[in-house]
Amino acid sequence: TLAPELKDTGPEKLLAPVLSAFWDEDRSWTLDVYRRHEGYEGLRKALAMSPDDVIAYVKESGLRGRGGAGFPTGMKWQFIPQGDGKPHYLVVNADESEPGTCKDIPLLFANPHSLIEGIAIACYAIRSSHAFIYLRGEVVPVLRRLHEAVREAYAAGLLGKNALGSGLDLELTVHAGAGAYICGEETALLDSLEGRRGQPRLRPPFPAVAGLYACPTVVNNVESIASVPTIMNRGKEWFRSMGSEKSPGFTLYSLSGHVARPGQYEAPMGITLRQLLDMSGGMRPGHRLKFWTPGGSSTPMFTDEHLDVPLDYEGVGAAGSMLGTKALQCFDETTCVVRAVTRWTEFYAHESCGKCTPCREGTYWLVQLMRDIEAGKGRMSDLDKLNDIADNINGKAFCALGDGAASPIFSSLKYFREEYEQHITGRGCPFDPARSTAWA
Ligand code: NAI
Repeated sequence: TLAPELKDTGPEKLLAPVLSAFWDEDRSWTLDVYRRHEGYEGLRKALAMSPDDVIAYVKESGLRGRGGAGFPTGMKWQFIPQGDGKPHYLVVNADESEPGTCKDIPLLFANPHSLIEGIAIACYAIRSSHAFIYLRGEVVPVLRRLHEAVREAYAAGLLGKNALGSGLDLELTVHAGAGAYICGEETALLDSLEGRRGQPRLRPPFPAVAGLYACPTVVNNVESIASVPTIMNRGKEWFRSMGSEKSPGFTLYSLSGHVARPGQYEAPMGITLRQLLDMSGGMRPGHRLKFWTPGGSSTPMFTDEHLDVPLDYEGVGAAGSMLGTKALQCFDETTCVVRAVTRWTEFYAHESCGKCTPCREGTYWLVQLMRDIEAGKGRMSDLDKLNDIADNINGKAFCALGDGAASPIFSSLKYFREEYEQHITGRGCPFDPARSTAWA
């Protein structure tokens, strides 16, 4: 599904810095610098259109949600009922916490006004006069910077009463969460924002129907909203000229692990990991890729056989995975798969909110089995038990956290069953025999 013109393109030409175009500039986070880079031009163009036309425009651009699931952004906006007499809300999910995912936080740190401008456009479109940014609370420097950017926007008349002279009143509240992975799940986030313990709600109703304070609410990821101003300013055709037919546009890929130059790479949707590695200097010298994740640990792991699978919803997505957050974690041949999966599983068990039984109990039992196998105390029958428990979580938990916990178990057993067996027959970790007695 890679656009034909991208297939034979050299790595340097694939970089498409838009949101990250001026991150290195002095005081990139200020309104002055943002204005020098098309800042608030997209909003000006949007305000010259009707709200419905803005929604139609974003829909036609093909922008898909950048938080992981890839739901069409314009369609989500269109779900908001009009003339219902209720307040409408926009809630930006800035609770980025998928393991390996680190794109929204640097974006907010270096270029917060792209989000604020996107919020103003989205609120105009869905007829909302109050937006919230739910930020991961640990990132205090980002919180400060965001507060400062919001203050600047109010002072410049971009937010507040009669914003930009449009007749639109827009309040923007920045809320810092307390650092729970589950609060990135959109309905748990809404509960947390309302002052309750963050636990997922049963969907439907989706937030578009009954969200914050039971009112129609759009919940969008930071990168999705921040992408809107440039689409409005440069045009939907420009956006569609990148990426593939069903997954168009540019996006931020977070590259981490055993790579030469980890970091954020902004490029068209649908490029491959091979192309990303080419543009980032490859794996660390003298080592080769063993396994990787397309979207953090919640997406199934892949191997070096999958280096040429396009990173979009039809490529990686169709290969039995989902694209997820585009967090490419790359591991070389020195990494023990069993150890990596044990760490991820411990993370999910720790972050499970405990509301539903399959996730609460299942992740606990997965951890027990994984720790035993890692320490050389496992049995061959444990492998079927692992699959069985993961199967009892997958699709049966209240929210996507359970599916995320099951996915590395399924994929590691699929691609690296032999390595699990080595831990069992050799009674320890072949990569690090010293660790084998750790749990004895
Ligand atoms: P989902 O596919 O259930 O929903 C995606 C979005 O579309 C939601 O906003 C939902 O409200 C909306 N939607 C779906 N069907 C709808 C309908 N019929 N009517 C109205 N709205 C509808 O995905 P979910 O469970 O919200 O998120 C899972 C994703 O989150 C995964 O892809 C995972 O990669 C990602 N994720 C991201 C993290 C991060 O740190 N960015 C952390 C953990 C997971």
